[in-house]
Amino acid sequence: MVKQKVLVTGGAGFIGSFIVDELVRDGHAVRVFDSLEPQIHGPAGKIPDYLNKSEKVEFVRGDVLDYGAFREAVKDVDVVFHEAARVGVGQSMYEVSRYVDTNTNGTANLLNILANEKHSVKKVLVAASMSSYGEGAYTCSKCGPVSPELRSEKQMSQRKWELSCSGCGSILMPVPASESKLLQPTSVYAITKATQEDLVLCVCRAYGIPAVSLRYFNVYGPRQSLSNPYTGVAAIFMSRIKNGSPPIIFEDGMQSRDFVSVHDIAAANMLAMKSGAADYGIFNVGTGRPITIMAVAEAIARIYGKSIKPTVTNNYRKGDVRHCFADISRIKSRLGFEPKVSFEDGMRELISWADKASAVDMVDKATTELKSKGLVG
Ligand SMILES: NC(=O)c1ccc[n+]([C@@H]2O[C@H](COP(=O)([O-])OP(=O)(O)OC[C@H]3O[C@@H](n4cnc5c(N)ncnc54)[C@H](O)[C@@H]3O)[C@@H](O)[C@H]2O)c1
Ligand SMILES: [Zn+2]
Repeated sequence: MVKQKVLVTGGAGFIGSFIVDELVRDGHAVRVFDSLEPQIHGPAGKIPDYLNKSEKVEFVRGDVLDYGAFREAVKDVDVVFHEAARVGVGQSMYEVSRYVDTNTNGTANLLNILANEKHSVKKVLVAASMSSYGEGAYTCSKCGPVSPELRSEKQMSQRKWELSCSGCGSILMPVPASESKLLQPTSVYAITKATQEDLVLCVCRAYGIPAVSLRYFNVYGPRQSLSNPYTGVAAIFMSRIKNGSPPIIFEDGMQSRDFVSVHDIAAANMLAMKSGAADYGIFNVGTGRPITIMAVAEAIARIYGKSIKPTVTNNYRKGDVRHCFADISRIKSRLGFEPKVSFEDGMRELISWADKASAVDMVDKATTELKSKGLVG
């Protein structure tokens, strides 16, 4: 492929930095545009040590809400990966305007630039999210496929965790969620991610700039922010297991998610950049395999060689979905994507990195904070 000049917004973050590495490996020139948010990068807003040190990488500290700075960053690039966002689902429920500002208005700025300024952008890839689905896809043995709403407060308070069919009352079976599944976002974060996708596809289509939306599932791996209390159950479990305390599990632990390694996410981004078959498309990026939260806790305990049994609280978090995992047939058939990292290998890699990282003194501050806002039942 011809060498390109590529802008990665949020390129100092967890996922963005791996995209940067892949781009450098392929010989492209990369500009990272990132505000170095204190919640992710510490109060001093330091460029992370892991950021690719190649001379092909230019770092620009800037905010997607700063139109002038963003315009300069976009000016001479061929491709844009838009990864910059605020990423806390729980936090988005009480920092509503900050999430809408960064995620929605930041994306709007990018599109204003593409619509109104001189530029050479030939492709835009946007990081979308499985969170926009809300509940995953289900099927009823009697009534067929259904796309149920979130479990009611009443149902949750009765500790009835599985979903039942609104037609006949049978317990529903989770099935892979395809891209055509109804979007039923259940958090401000999820709404902004769905909006980002809609905005990018709509405006880019209008101006004939090929755009791709990649709906990432639950991404994990080295460099994920351990000091940020919102970025993932694996990091929170790790900190507890490492310190000899049991991980705290909501519901009964049988809820499931699709945990996908950051390496597979970066690979999917490269395929989508290179392939014309991706243009104007929406693609799930996951493994297609559901893993229960209990299995995550058990795998981490196993890897640490500790015989700690998780504490099942039977508490719940408002807005949590029961099961959601990806149907990846579209990205497989159109882009030739194949997830390569097994869950066990990926967890081992995450743990060996976290053991070396300096930020291991994590606490599950997330739960404490959500509790203080009345978001845990
Ligand atoms: N991690 C996941 O499981 C997951 C799942 C689905 C989608 N995503 C999406 O992937 C993208 C990357 O997420 P991540 O997990 O790497 O998060 P991250 O927090 O590690 O990275 C985001 C980066 O964006 C930067 N940023 C935040 N606000 C900014 C602003 N106003 N201007 C410029 N830069 C800003 C941050 O400093 C950070 O470096 C996000 O769009 C996120 O919504 C992530
Ligand atoms: Zn039914």
